[in-house]
Parts: sequence; structure tokens; C-alpha cells
Amino acid sequence: MNIYDIIEKKKHGQELTKEEINYFVDGYTKGEIPDYQISALLMAICLKNLNLDETVNLANAMLNSGDLVDLSKIKGIKVDKHSTGGVGDTTSLVLGPLVASAGLVFAKMSGRGLGHTGGTLDKLESIPGMRIDLQMDEFINNSNKIGISIIGQTADITPADKKLYALRDSTATVDNISLIASSIMSKKLAVGADALVLDVKVGSGAFMKDVESATKLSEIMVSLGKKFNHKTKALITSMDEPLGFAVGNSLEVIEAINTLKGQGPQDLRQLCLALGSKLLLMSNFADDEDEAKEILETNIRNGKAFEKFKEFVKAQGGDISYIDDTSKFKLSKYKVEIVSKDEGYVKKIDALLIGEIARDLGAGRITKESKIDLGAGIILNKKIDDFVKKGELLATFYTDKEKDINLQVENIYKAYEIGEKNKETHKLIYKEID
Ligand code: URA
Ligand code: CA
Repeated sequence: MNIYDIIEKKKHGQELTKEEINYFVDGYTKGEIPDYQISALLMAICLKNLNLDETVNLANAMLNSGDLVDLSKIKGIKVDKHSTGGVGDTTSLVLGPLVASAGLVFAKMSGRGLGHTGGTLDKLESIPGMRIDLQMDEFINNSNKIGISIIGQTADITPADKKLYALRDSTATVDNISLIASSIMSKKLAVGADALVLDVKVGSGAFMKDVESATKLSEIMVSLGKKFNHKTKALITSMDEPLGFAVGNSLEVIEAINTLKGQGPQDLRQLCLALGSKLLLMSNFADDEDEAKEILETNIRNGKAFEKFKEFVKAQGGDISYIDDTSKFKLSKYKVEIVSKDEGYVKKIDALLIGEIARDLGAGRITKESKIDLGAGIILNKKIDDFVKKGELLATFYTDKEKDINLQVENIYKAYEIGEKNKETHKLIYKEID
């Protein structure tokens, strides 16, 4: 077997065997096959695609390229959630404590933000003292004791995906559905929770720009979950505007806390209830959607979800006085309010642009090495379908970068489209894939 013939085969759209897929993943991970040959193969895959069997084999090869995490020492039903990446998506910080307060175990390995999408680990690090680099036994102990722990993925999990993803990122081969599905699912399956809910984003701020391609991606990921015997469901949800009001690390932690107390934005709450209900249903903790939602809503009302968040923060070394009094979070030096120049309805918000503005204000990274300003970000005062008067507040941003303020004010105006009322009201959840 040799890599040249594998590239040649895929160039002609032929199906690769399991052995051929193992050969190139293994060879590339070990550094025996060079970047240029794998680049050519990835481009051939983008142009000719992989069928479901090939995608399963690719996920399997990546999953077995490194360590597998054994969650069997954790009692109870372990659940996990993954989002394909959005703007201002604070869901995990709400969903985790929420389902843990209902008795599920949220033992999750999360990622950092890159580009215009934020990462759960960075958000958590805006709580002073919070440690996201727990050793495996501490992760397991905390999960057992309080039902929730969130840590960073260790370097030894799916090394093949790490190498392939970096190469895809620099060779314009990220946006292939089979490559995305196998990349995401290999990481999830290496940890292997009992039930997994996928939040597949669609819209201006997401990889998938239309519901049709998001449906295809969801179907492949759900099939992969099933093939490896893990309960998996997907929700296809809108990323046509940022989720909630806050975009930025400390700002999103504050938003998550408010949501856990029942005072957060409607869309974030609705999404967390929908994803949480799926997890309760897959775990047989509820008989139907209504019952599942009722359980979760009750735990927001009676304060249990919020208390669970505090237990979680405390167990990982975070200063819970910040959770009790969110005014302690230090935001960036300059606070800039942007008021509307027009009167009308918010027709559209360019979520990608908002994500990029937040990144450039300091909330995100341009490269993996960039240092982020945890106090930077944006609060949207108006969202799609809201009415806004001339002179009324559209958004506020926080930054330490004084010289960029005027430019970013102009960008915020560009991100908002104000005019006639939309014919159809904006939808948050499009559909679910079982
Ligand atoms: N997220 C991933 O982890 N992998 C992809 O390929 C795309 C998004
Ligand atoms: Ca948000």
C-alpha cells in the first residue's frame, strides 16, 4: 500500500478501504507521510467526498490515534454536548449545571476559542482561580461528587485530528461535511459519554450556511454516534444572530449566571432547555419533552441549577464571590455605547461580523498564541425583530484598544440591518435529527 495510489484513487472518486484509511491516518500521525501528500488527498476528498462507510472508518482511525478516556469510574449517566461553533454561544455554562442539578453527570472536555467563535475554557478562565487543567482523577472525583466537571482536552486524545485539522485550516479543506463530522465525532467518541446532544449551527455566523447542509452534517454525525453505540441526537439551530446578548468571555459568564437564575435572554434559555430536555429523554429521566422541560425549569426557579454552578466553580478553584456578585468581574477600560441612526425593525444581524468585532476588541484569538482580554466584548441591546428608535441604544462594547474604537463603532453599524419588519419572525430551533 502506498499514499500515491490512495490519492490517485480518491482523485477518481473511488471508495477507499478501511485499510487505506487507517494507513494514511496512521502514517500522517506518525510523521511518515508528508503534509503535501495529505494536502492533496484532503483536497481530493473535498472534491469527490467520502461515503458513510469511509466516514465511519475515518472517524474510527482518528478516534484510535490516541488515548481513550475511560468514564466508567464515574457513577450515573454521563452526558455530553457539542456545538459546531457559534458567536456568543454560552450554552455549555448553563446546560452543564442545569442537567447536573437534575441528576445527570456532565463530564465534559471542552475547547478554546479560535477566530470568531468563543471557547468554553476561555470563558471559564475569566472566573479568578478557575482551573481547567485538572488531572484525570480529579476530573473523575468531581464528576462523581457533584455531577459536573469541565476540563480542557488533553494532548493525547485524537492526535490525528489535531494534525489533520491544522492542515485543513491552511489548505482550504475545512468545509467538507464528512471531514467535519469525523473530526468532531472522533473527539466526542474518544471520551464516550452515554448520551450526546449535538447543537448544529446554521446561518451567517456558522460553518453551515443553510438548513439543508446542516441536516446532512447532523445525519452523518448521528449515524457515527449510533455506529459506535452512543445515544446521539442533534438539534439544528440558528446562528443568524449571536446567542443571547453577550459576546465575550466575562460578559458571557455573567450572562450564563443570569440565565441560571432565570433572568437571562430568552433565546439562550430556550436553547438550553431544548438541549437539556434531549439529554434527559435519552437518559430516561423523563417520559416526554414537556416533563423534561418542567424538571429543568423547576431547577432554575428553585435555585438548584445556580447552586450547582457555584459548586462546580468552587470545586475547580474558582472564586465564588464573583458568582454571587457579578459586578466584581473586571471589564475592559473603554465602554462605548452605539445608538441607532435609523428607526425601524432589526432585519438582520451579521453574526460572523459581530464575532469578528468581538475578537478584534480583544475577546478572541487571531492565532493560537494570541492572548485574550477576558473583559472585552459586546452586549447587544437589540436583536432580530426588535423595534429600535433613532437614538436608542443598539449595542455597547468594551475594549482596551483605544485606537480601534471608531473603526469598531462603524463595524457595529455594518452588522445591523434596520428597516421594514421581517415577513416571518426569526426562528431559533429549526429541527431535530434522531
Ligand atoms: N470543529 C471540529 O472540531 N472539526 C471540524 O472539522 C470543524 C469544526
Ligand atoms: Ca451570549
